[in-house]
Amino acid sequence: MNFVVGVTGSIAAYKACELVREFVKAGHDVRVVMTKSACEFVTPLTFRTLSKNPVAVTLFNQEEDNWMPAHIELANFADAFVIAPCTANVLAKLANGIGDDALTATFLACTSPVLVAPSMNVHMWENKSTQANVALLEQRGVNFVDPESGDLACGVNAKGKLPEPAKIAAVAIELAQKHKESK
Ligand SMILES: Cc1cc2nc3c(=O)[nH]c(=O)nc-3n(C[C@H](O)[C@H](O)[C@H](O)COP(=O)(O)O)c2cc1C
Repeated sequence: MNFVVGVTGSIAAYKACELVREFVKAGHDVRVVMTKSACEFVTPLTFRTLSKNPVAVTLFNQEEDNWMPAHIELANFADAFVIAPCTANVLAKLANGIGDDALTATFLACTSPVLVAPSMNVHMWENKSTQANVALLEQRGVNFVDPESGDLACGVNAKGKLPEPAKIAAVAIELAQKHKESK
């Protein structure tokens, strides 16, 4: 199956490398789309090497031999779109229909199941705006893997940690399978 992994500017972005490896190890094809902030944490080169596919970061920098915009190509390619880790900022964009970068535009164009794995500081997670955005997206059929409790990068033991990549991959594979069977 085909998975698109969306990576955002969270300290947990390094765990998305392991998530890509989980899909590749299981024999799936993976494409990665990153926000510009995500590139501050992990390089596109890492994902290009792990996925053996080009990585999309900007909307407007197209390969010369590819007329199809990357966000449409990725949306068409995906049997499931997994955004892990997902920042509070991207959650807000998803909930409000904002598509001002390759990742959020892919979300808007995607008709396959979407799985979001938020990861952030506990106060960002508990913020009323964040919780309202999650509730709205759930209402609209977006799937979530909730953050877990544990030691966070900000030095506290609280909720906000990205679950293990193997767990996220397993949920995504199940969603993609169900979606394919329902077609
Ligand atoms: C060191 C560092 C770690 C961060 N970790 C997170 C995080 O885990 N979750 C989050 O929502 N934002 C985090 N941020 C804030 C985001 O990077 C910031 O909101 C950024 O604008 C997100 O961009 P994006 O949503 O387009 O990827 C972090 C910022 C820094 C400097």
